[in-house]
Amino acid sequence: MTQPEATKAGEIVFDDVSKSFTSPEHRDSPFYAVRNLSFTVGRGELVAVLGKTGCGKSTMFNLLAGLARPSSGKVLVHGHDPYAEFAWFRGKVGIVFQNDRLMPWRTAIENVALGLELNKVPSAERLAIAAEWLARLGLRGHEHDYPHALSGGMRQRVSIARAFSIKPDILLCDEPFSALDEVTGNALRGEFRDLVRETRATGIFITHSIGEALTLGHRILVFQRPARIAYEAVLGGTPEDEIRAEILRVMGDVEAA
Ligand SMILES: Nc1ncnc2c1ncn2[C@@H]1O[C@H](COP(=O)(O)OP(=O)(O)OP(=O)(O)O)[C@@H](O)[C@H]1O
Ligand SMILES: [Mg+2]
Repeated sequence: MTQPEATKAGEIVFDDVSKSFTSPEHRDSPFYAVRNLSFTVGRGELVAVLGKTGCGKSTMFNLLAGLARPSSGKVLVHGHDPYAEFAWFRGKVGIVFQNDRLMPWRTAIENVALGLELNKVPSAERLAIAAEWLARLGLRGHEHDYPHALSGGMRQRVSIARAFSIKPDILLCDEPFSALDEVTGNALRGEFRDLVRETRATGIFITHSIGEALTLGHRILVFQRPARIAYEAVLGGTPEDEIRAEILRVMGDVEAA
């Protein structure tokens, strides 16, 4: 993918952000999951984040999604503080977690319609939009199934439909395809890429797969523990083979390919 017109101002801003935890295990000094992390994501840019397990990607994600507060530094999404202004973000930011996080007491269509409901879209309209998204993601006929009656891949499709149905300006994804088999994952990846291109959402996409990062991202950030940027590559310039080799070198882990 070629680089869109990324604004320097940044739709997503991490400014010298640290997040530490205290636990019985780390009683003497705080344990940093994220340390002095700074980066920005421009409007319409999709940034893929790679890094070894435990390096702090999900912690960064939780800060972005407003589920945790930074210990120091500033996180801004669309100029707003996701933690302090959590209510402002509801219905505006599309989030796809590693596991689907659907509400088990709601049918597929009711799960998809949730964000629209928060946005006060009238009932008939939101059900029509939700049905359209489910159909788009190959789930026509499953509108009234409950999550327990759907396969993992189908549930993940419902959560992608839920994220896109609100036409989000900002899209946040934490390994959305990693729990799926390769064929289903590949199919969803393609659909996802088309949706991102069409909606021009600004986004962060965490993945363990270098191939996925190269396919989906405009830019790749490789994190090292505690979460900080060890390598950054803009796609469309440097040959992909070189980027892949450099990522592997930085991660020091050939298995990650
Ligand atoms: N609430 C918490 N309390 C204490 N430690 C935590 C907490 N959340 C995360 N950590 C620690 O922070 C580190 C980073 O965790 P995180 O989940 O962000 O990693 P990750 O990069 O997402 O890993 P993975 O690729 O396996 O998903 C880990 O060592 C983890 O144990
Ligand atoms: Mg994680």
